[in-house]
Amino acid sequence: MKHRLISLGSLVPFLAAATLVSGVCAVQRDRSVLPTVEGTFSSTVAYDNYQLVEGLGTGWGYACVIATPDKKILFDTGADSPTLISNMEGLDIEPDSMEIVVLSHAHLDHVGGLDGFLQRKGHVTVYIPSSFPNSVRDVITARGEEYEDVTDATEISAGFHTTGEMGGAIIEQSVVLDTPVGSVVITGCAHPGIVSIVARAKEMLPGKEVHFVMGGFHLLSASDSQLTSIIGAFRDLGVQKVAPSHCSGDRCQQLFKEEYGIHYIESGVGHTTIYSRTRPTLTRVGSTLSLSWEPFDTGAYAVQFRDDLLSGKWRNAPGTWPITDTIWTEPDISQVDKRYYRIVSR
Ligand SMILES: [Fe+2]
Repeated sequence: MKHRLISLGSLVPFLAAATLVSGVCAVQRDRSVLPTVEGTFSSTVAYDNYQLVEGLGTGWGYACVIATPDKKILFDTGADSPTLISNMEGLDIEPDSMEIVVLSHAHLDHVGGLDGFLQRKGHVTVYIPSSFPNSVRDVITARGEEYEDVTDATEISAGFHTTGEMGGAIIEQSVVLDTPVGSVVITGCAHPGIVSIVARAKEMLPGKEVHFVMGGFHLLSASDSQLTSIIGAFRDLGVQKVAPSHCSGDRCQQLFKEEYGIHYIESGVGHTTIYSRTRPTLTRVGSTLSLSWEPFDTGAYAVQFRDDLLSGKWRNAPGTWPITDTIWTEPDISQVDKRYYRIVSR
């Protein structure tokens, strides 16, 4: 992530992750195992009409920063570059660190920030659907950058795939991450149909579970029966977690939430997910400090803390009990470097 998701260095010098014993993850202080996002996959929503982190800008559109062990990628650019770049900086993501840009489709709410971003950041390759209008290619070449036309499903870099062009009236590509916890599907607007995109992702990575589907699902005007059918198809495809945002629609979010429960993840600008089986990870997004972890069963979780590692009573951390998400946020950031944390499964 980081994009610096975390160098909490000065902020939390010793917090780190730890051991998984009988369903308990203890978070201990040991600089040698300071959690890092190096070598892992992550995604951070940098532009959305939904806001998850206070202080970040919103606008109708979508952009997501993806980190793989090898590359840092900007997927879509939102509707305007000032909001995009301001959000990236607010999330401690250096725009200059991006190496690849992938554009889902040619609508302004996804390509509107491209020119301003390229003006700020040079030396990237922009992957566009082959059917894109030349006006977009002109924007890229006018800034001295290169583009690659995409037609078929392709692995752009290790573990980072595009679905290739999909759809009819509106051609779109989505991206698929091949992570240690399964496939992660990220969509811009899902004009070709969110179910078709997830099915394509399953074909591309046979034998991989679909761990997470996030982004715009394009279901703003879908009826309840259509939404119910789509949610059923998600279950049939084995989708484990969902985070619909952007053009998904409030009703879509509500019905997915009812079906997926703790595996429904609230998303919006500032939402970060780390895809790793390694231990709880401490992350900072803006001024918010979070512990995130992969569930080790299907139950709910709680975060507990105590002020001394070897003595003292574990107390439930502030927040909802039980924790019904796989990300917990410490409301009192001033206490973080004084406490020891653990995650317990109920
Ligand atoms: Fe869109």
